[in-house]
Amino acid sequence: MKLTCTIHKTLLSPFLVLERISPFFKRPKIVPFRGHSFFVLPRVFPPLSHQTGFFLDSIALKQGTRVVDVGCGAGVLSICLFKKGMRFVCVDISPDALTCTRVNAALNRVPLRVIKSNLLESVHGRFDYILFNSPPKLLTQKGTKQFSFSIARQFAKQAHTRLKTGGVLYLYCTQENKSVWKKALSHFDVQTIGRTRSFTIPFVVLRATKKAP
Ligand SMILES: C[S@@+](CC[C@H](N)C(=O)[O-])C[C@H]1O[C@@H](n2cnc3c(N)ncnc32)[C@H](O)[C@@H]1O
Repeated sequence: MKLTCTIHKTLLSPFLVLERISPFFKRPKIVPFRGHSFFVLPRVFPPLSHQTGFFLDSIALKQGTRVVDVGCGAGVLSICLFKKGMRFVCVDISPDALTCTRVNAALNRVPLRVIKSNLLESVHGRFDYILFNSPPKLLTQKGTKQFSFSIARQFAKQAHTRLKTGGVLYLYCTQENKSVWKKALSHFDVQTIGRTRSFTIPFVVLRATKKAP
């Protein structure tokens, strides 16, 4: 049991493992993904086909809509989903992630608004969609990593305020965190629309629609 927990903890930090294996992962790099090029700093989440790719394939966005990409990382979701007439706001708590998103927006000629924010704290206005490829533990302002019902609930409340009625939150999370997220999203109609594995860990995609008042 203890060994399984240790293995899982290690697998949940794939960057640390990759950095140990090869100096390649300690350097900034350009990663090609789905017809785009992405500049990725060390410790910024790179485009992974079995994770970001799976999430991308689960999402259906209507044209001409307003979207928030929470935990934007290198900006991969927004850049791959962007179509003319759509407006994207990208937020992350990590300054390195925001640098990558800004560089990638310029590199791929995609107009993105990029804001530093803890979850949706610094986001204003109303949106049609919120996207969140959520890590198993979320980063806090103090630099620690945590996941709990109160954090999920805080995010659910923010998402409810920021979405228009009928607006949709697409959430990618671990199977382990799914029940906590579902409980936190009690003011939404929640459906599980996808299941996959990343580094052997089961993940799901939730589609949470804001109910009419
Ligand atoms: C799994 S990565 C997803 C990156 C990108 N969206 C993708 O799909 O390729 C999760 C991202 O969430 C960000 N994050 C973690 N905690 C956060 C928080 N409290 N507020 C905002 N972003 C956070 C991390 O910095 C990281 O960039």
